[in-house]
Amino acid sequence: MADTPLGFFYRETPWRFQAEWADGAWTEGELTSESTITIDEGATCLHYAQQCFEGLKSYAGPDGAPLLFRVDQNAARLRRSAERLLMPPPPEELFLRGVQACVHANRHLLPAADEGGALYVRPLLIGVGPNLGLRPAPRYVFRVFCSPVGPYFSDGLKGIKLLVTEQDRVAPRGMGSYKAGGNYAGGLMLTANAKAQGHTEVLYLDPREHRLLDEAGSANVFGIRDGNTLVTPGSASILPSITMDSLLQLARDRGLDVQRRDVPVEELADFEEMGCTGTAAVITPVAQVTHGERVYRFAAPGAHTKALYDALTQIQYGLREDPHGWVTPVTAAQAAGA
Ligand code: PLP
Ligand code: COI
Repeated sequence: MADTPLGFFYRETPWRFQAEWADGAWTEGELTSESTITIDEGATCLHYAQQCFEGLKSYAGPDGAPLLFRVDQNAARLRRSAERLLMPPPPEELFLRGVQACVHANRHLLPAADEGGALYVRPLLIGVGPNLGLRPAPRYVFRVFCSPVGPYFSDGLKGIKLLVTEQDRVAPRGMGSYKAGGNYAGGLMLTANAKAQGHTEVLYLDPREHRLLDEAGSANVFGIRDGNTLVTPGSASILPSITMDSLLQLARDRGLDVQRRDVPVEELADFEEMGCTGTAAVITPVAQVTHGERVYRFAAPGAHTKALYDALTQIQYGLREDPHGWVTPVTAAQAAGA
């Protein structure tokens, strides 16, 4: 790989996969070297944000061959987002073949496991046909591209700093549990404000009362309290994180008491450790949360967070047994749809 450390940036790779939908049917889809997409100026993704996406990683296994982590869950979540946005969901077979084909074609760019990197895979569904009125598009593009990445948070190992914001990017009963680009557009300024004040990322409270923890701008959050209890918000306005779902399973496997429930912001005072989880964030320890005048501090990384990080990443890189069947190899046959 390049001499520069892998951060989390867009790096163009030679191949991406694309399929198109029109008149009720998806095309077969194919790999293309064309990194741009030409769309109609009336495309609904441009005007009405008729768009959703996914994020997952491919990791170099012990023999250097690419592995995928819980890709079926990303297919299911894109389906759910698409249905909410009145878009035709790519069938699971198309989603899996697109991801396999994209990773397989770019496998020479897969960072080695000891670099701690991965190929970040970004499946994208956009309304490309024109409409002026507020109606769904007549045509859609499903594209999958990938980019070699390292850690999302450069200060991740020391523990990141979160700033509680008084603003919201989603509404009660709104779009927060869908992976729609519009949610992220609404958060850009809030993350930028937090960074400008010396924090790493923003932490949202529930949009109804601002009383409960919701999630960070780019990841879910959890706390460890009472020595062996893992607590995570059960909010309906956060993205259901596939990494968090995996973390909760690994925590139960370790004998921790797992509680997914309302978490009042003051409960931060009871946390011994705090962390955030996501595909990009993996499991990143949180060292500090600032809420108005109050500053909460946590061990970073705490012992449970470190052990859970090791368990998760060793499964992702194929270095330990995969008791839950989360890892799939990328093969030429699957990339061809066999
Ligand atoms: N929350 C937000 C807002 C995210 O952008 C992400 C990243 O996808 C997550 C949570 C974590 O989800 P996952 O673990 O499925 O990547
Ligand atoms: C991911 O973790 O996959 C995401 O989509 C978060 C994004 C802000 C990079």
